Amino acid sequence: MSRIPLPYNPKVMDLFRNPKNLGKMEDATVVAVAGNPACGDMITFYLKIDEAKQIIEKASFESYGCAANIATSSIVTERIKSLTLEKAGNEITWKKVTEEIGGLPSVKFHCGVLAVGALKRAIRQYFTQKGIEAPSWLPKEHTFEEKQALEEEELAKTLSKRMKPEAEKK
Ligand code: FES
Repeated sequence: MSRIPLPYNPKVMDLFRNPKNLGKMEDATVVAVAGNPACGDMITFYLKIDEAKQIIEKASFESYGCAANIATSSIVTERIKSLTLEKAGNEITWKKVTEEIGGLPSVKFHCGVLAVGALKRAIRQYFTQKGIEAPSWLPKEHTFEEKQALEEEELAKTLSKRMKPEAEKK
């Protein structure tokens, strides 16, 4: 069976073929792994943080997702360079990122949500991991993107539940 290619715009295709900031970061301050329950794909997000100023010095990612996820992650990692954690956490949304790459097919929205969710999870994780009290600007509840970008274990649980026969789910 042949698949019909998705109508990605040229910007998405260019970022997919020439992604920015792709790869592991050895000196990352924080590393967050997140997966999307819609497709089961995973992404790892790395942030190097200037801890005195709470500024993101650099960001990179490893994606096991699709072209849309690679393109949106490229944009996110570019946009957050030199931003404070507060700005990166509060101003980067999946809608803005999707607009910036010229739009995505609606069946691919979740791929951009995963990229932004991984960023937001990394920022939250930074405070938890360092034992720093969460700042007032950090939403107490997980944001929409974070809820859609599950931690590895949550993702495994969600997917295994989905794969179980109906009788076993109860
Ligand atoms: S289909 Fe899974 S990240 Fe795009």
